Amino acid sequence: MCGIVGYIGNKQAQDVLLHGLSKLEYRGYDSAGIAIFDNGGVELKKSVGRLANLAELVDGPDRIHGSQGIGHTRWATHGRPSDANAHPHQDNQGNFTIVHNGIIENYMQLRDELTAKGHTFLSETDTEVVAHLLDDMWTGDLFDTVLAVAKRIHGAYALGIMTKHEPGKLIAVRKQSPLIVGLGEGENFIASDIPAILEYTRNVYILDDGEMAVLTADKVETFDLEGNPTTKEVYEVTWSASAAEKGGYEHFMLKEIHEQPRAIRDTLTGRISEDGQKVVFDEIAWPAGYAEKIDRIHIVACGTSWHAGMVGKQAIERLTRIPVDCEVASEYRYREPIVSENTLIIVITQSGETADTMAALREAKEQGVRVLAITNVVGSSAAREADDVIFTWAGPEISVASTKAYTTQLISLYLFAAWLAQERNAAHVSEIPNILSGLKQLPELADMALQTAPSIEAFAKNWAEKEHAFFIGRGMDYAVSMEGSLKLKEISYMHAEAYAAGELKHGTLALIVEDIPVIAVVTQEQLYDKTLSNIKEVKARDAFVLAVAFEGDEEIKKSVDQVIAIPRVNPFLSPVISVIPLQLLAYYASVVRGNDVDNPRNLAKSVTVE
Ligand code: F6R
Repeated sequence: MCGIVGYIGNKQAQDVLLHGLSKLEYRGYDSAGIAIFDNGGVELKKSVGRLANLAELVDGPDRIHGSQGIGHTRWATHGRPSDANAHPHQDNQGNFTIVHNGIIENYMQLRDELTAKGHTFLSETDTEVVAHLLDDMWTGDLFDTVLAVAKRIHGAYALGIMTKHEPGKLIAVRKQSPLIVGLGEGENFIASDIPAILEYTRNVYILDDGEMAVLTADKVETFDLEGNPTTKEVYEVTWSASAAEKGGYEHFMLKEIHEQPRAIRDTLTGRISEDGQKVVFDEIAWPAGYAEKIDRIHIVACGTSWHAGMVGKQAIERLTRIPVDCEVASEYRYREPIVSENTLIIVITQSGETADTMAALREAKEQGVRVLAITNVVGSSAAREADDVIFTWAGPEISVASTKAYTTQLISLYLFAAWLAQERNAAHVSEIPNILSGLKQLPELADMALQTAPSIEAFAKNWAEKEHAFFIGRGMDYAVSMEGSLKLKEISYMHAEAYAAGELKHGTLALIVEDIPVIAVVTQEQLYDKTLSNIKEVKARDAFVLAVAFEGDEEIKKSVDQVIAIPRVNPFLSPVISVIPLQLLAYYASVVRGNDVDNPRNLAKSVTVE
């Protein structure tokens, strides 16, 4: 996820680009850059860090003059956050200048090809190959060249392109990554998202997948990627600028919950072999023989990331039969954990900066133990200090309550469990193709699970005045219950507890009284009857039971007060789907209670203190 913006018209482009980027910083803030046509040449300024650093670079006498340009705010994927990796990128002659959002999947192959032809690359990014390719394939016509290049690049991209060969023209191309065109009077715009241009116009074209736009100051024409003209309807934006930033959603949390199908898809991209039989993890570079030697794994994390680890523990143990401990980092770091050279430490951290998790990572490294980090932030401390890193491609998570980071952590852990089983040729390796096929269905199933939102909203309206709730489940359902309970506490401020369903009767059942809400997660086939018995125990005490269960489960309907039906999925993978209604439940309970959903009291997004 990155933000791109482009301008061509009669205003000073620098002002329009900086303003547009300020509205897109939610899409990433690892670096920012602008390129502007200035007296026949292109002037480029970029800086690592937040947009303010760039704004300082182009302030006062250093201001860049010109009325055509492109800008970018980066969420690092390929290559750490740095000035060199910041966009815009150019070819060696500086003929083409581009900004990009997305991932060029075949960039390594293209880079080798272009290097052999004499191109020199100045960044570690996938994006830079596109600038070089444009120069390499230049036909004498920008439009034709862009069409030819689009046929050579695979993956997801939104591109803003300009060239010295044809000043006065901007081209925008969209494949999967979002892109809009803003239509003005004597000026036109491109942007990743509407807020970037809302100050100047409310009339936009929303480019379709596989569509491109050719902009001059006075005209916008659109085409498909075969070069055929397309017809577009002007969309008139009626939302306020702040609502638009959230993509029309009322809160970032709701937006991020709805981004999960896309985030899951991105995290899977490039990690399953084309024949669907194997996991590909090029990013893990273990010494030969290490995978076979591992005899114990410690997963260390905090909060929601720890809950993802609880699912990961079960997945890794089941597929590899290696014993896995999963512990909160603040406890782990102080208890002198017993490790050896055959122990693998996995730290899970969305931000990559959590103090306790980082302390555990450093402690492990001091003891000479190999550390694998699962993190969402390229260039974070965890990513830099771990021996190996698996990135979750969730995109920036703004809301304090973690949602899409959790589901993409789960995806990473399932992939890792399958990969490790494969590397060790473990007993359960034959199950892997089936699991991988299940993983590939998850984006679509997550989309279906999101359809539960209206019924959950209605439920929350009648329910949110309660002060206590219990979440129960067994096995992986218990791990998901822990996450559901944390989410509810965190943003609705209701007291909630998660219990292993079979453990209730050892004390906590004393708290089950008439009408107390019990949310039961019931997706594990082999534990179904056992969980049902526990549900009957709480029903016998007149609790109100809401079950999250598979659609078509008629049995559960007879035993509970209300069912939230989720699409059927391999129970091994069900946490990715069953957590979605629980996230929605917490969200709507928080809204009904009038809380600040995205910034709950007393909490911060990145906990860098002990
Ligand atoms: C809850 C939440 C927190 C974080 C925890 C760890 O919604 O977001 O519990 O999961 O603070 O943060 P990271 O994953 O950044 O290490």
